[in-house]
Amino acid sequence: MAPVPVSPISVGHIDDVQELRKTIPSRIPQRFVRDRIERPRLFMTNPTPCKNIPVIDLSNLQKGSKDEFRAELLQLSASCEDWGFFQVINHEVNLSLVESLEKVAMEFFMLPLEEKQKYPMLPGTVQGYGQAFVFSEDQKLDWCNMFALGLEPHFIRNPNLWPTKPATFSETLEAYSREIRKLCKNLLKYIAIGLSLDENVFEDMFGAAVQAVRMNYYPACPRPDLVLGLSPHSDGSALTVLQQGKGSSVGLQIFKDNTWVPVQPIPNALVINIGDTIEVLTNGRYKSVEHRAVTHKEKDRLSIVTFYAPSYDLEVGPMPELVDENEPCKYRRYNHGEYSKNYVTNKLQGKKALEFAKINTTN
Ligand code: OGA
Ligand code: NI
Repeated sequence: MAPVPVSPISVGHIDDVQELRKTIPSRIPQRFVRDRIERPRLFMTNPTPCKNIPVIDLSNLQKGSKDEFRAELLQLSASCEDWGFFQVINHEVNLSLVESLEKVAMEFFMLPLEEKQKYPMLPGTVQGYGQAFVFSEDQKLDWCNMFALGLEPHFIRNPNLWPTKPATFSETLEAYSREIRKLCKNLLKYIAIGLSLDENVFEDMFGAAVQAVRMNYYPACPRPDLVLGLSPHSDGSALTVLQQGKGSSVGLQIFKDNTWVPVQPIPNALVINIGDTIEVLTNGRYKSVEHRAVTHKEKDRLSIVTFYAPSYDLEVGPMPELVDENEPCKYRRYNHGEYSKNYVTNKLQGKKALEFAKINTTN
């Protein structure tokens, strides 16, 4: 979420999806209708229980016996390597805080448009209320309203964008984010141990880590077969933590083995995924997997997503321990701030953002 210069390009009028629901409840404006090839095939959203993402029990890592620790660590490493996604249970994030944040987030989205527009996501910026990643008039739009805020370090905050309604929004978000930060640090510690690295390697390397939150509200959609809630992308973060509102429809899908696999959230679990930064640092051993969100005909959906990433000052590149003759260096070294800037100034498009970092290995 580095500050980005305001671009002169025209993105046209961007409809607010909740307002569309009120004014034209059964029609989908053309700008939301995806090209045939991009449309979700909804029979694929039926849960295939054998293919749900792995589950990690953090309590086995935090306070399990030696054997429990070892088994869970193996499971964590395998999840990062094979899936790039997992759900974490017994994560120690206070559940009443999780619920309170869901409640205030939902209250925020239900405010009148004029109230939400007091916190606009201006063109070329990624914080506030609106649609991020829109860069042209002919670009398809996501069936989603977003509200995003930078949290840490404090200099990325824009206090004018912190809502005054609901009254407890800011304090709830602060308290929640502190706990999520702890979780990210813990997970990175175990990810490091699983890679036979020093447990503090990421913490020491990341410096003043960047943390941002994006709340995505996906209203029900009369034609979920024509639209996407969120375009396919990988996250630019190191780790991402996703929580979805109670009673939400299934919506998150990950691209695995050439199909879109729906993520079935377990109650009270948090969904974690590896971002581009960890893919680069591990020289591609852990992949930042492409994912998207689909919508539902009757149900709406709320997701609250935390991005955890290194300080913008950090020079990122594959760690020497993960480069050898079998795994030659696949990514160049770059400044993380520049990576972030590149990420937020382009539309979401699968794993395209990572091309910024890839070494061209055509030889
Ligand atoms: C994101 C994201 C998925 C979802 O915000 O980066 O992938 O289910 N969200 O909302
Ligand atoms: Ni994402």
